[in-house]
Amino acid sequence: MSEIILQIDGKEVRAEEGMTILEAALGAGITIPTLCHHEKLEPFGSCRLCSVEVGTGDRAKLVVACVYPVEEKLVVRTGSEKIDRIRKVILELYLAHAPDASSLQELALEYGADKDRFEKEASFCIHCGLCVRYCNEVKKKNAVGFVDRGTRKEICFVPEIASRECWDCKECFPLCPTEALQAAYVLIEALKFPRTP
Ligand code: FES
Repeated sequence: MSEIILQIDGKEVRAEEGMTILEAALGAGITIPTLCHHEKLEPFGSCRLCSVEVGTGDRAKLVVACVYPVEEKLVVRTGSEKIDRIRKVILELYLAHAPDASSLQELALEYGADKDRFEKEASFCIHCGLCVRYCNEVKKKNAVGFVDRGTRKEICFVPEIASRECWDCKECFPLCPTEALQAAYVLIEALKFPRTP
């Protein structure tokens, strides 16, 4: 695998071909905020919190660091007024789902996000997919998935599988940026399904 040299926040960073900007930044000790990233899972690119700027001048554009691959001589900026503004709005939208989640509150403090800016949402879920992907990719159980689309999209445990697999697992709970509230809630429903011996 060939080495790629790029620049992140003015620092020369060495990465390997095929790595993402986020991986290269992490390897160089540069922090980029994330909500849907997990080192054991395939990149998902859903929360957009890891948005960064690549390129310079008029050619600068916003990309999602957890899915965007490193390129030779790529110039990356992980923070700017524009990026901070975007992260602030993203956090405000998520806080409408889970205003009390400490991980969101910490980020809100950092980016000056107002948890009351948007009307409260009925669901805790911010669609990061961590529970769904972890169950599928790491546990290989497929006990939890997404149902519906757009604003109606939700996570849902498959009762037939959850009633068999989830009792002594629940490894997805601590992954949830909204502090497992949604997963716990819907799992309780799924566990009412008759348990198979
Ligand atoms: Fe990159 Fe969520 S961490 S989109």
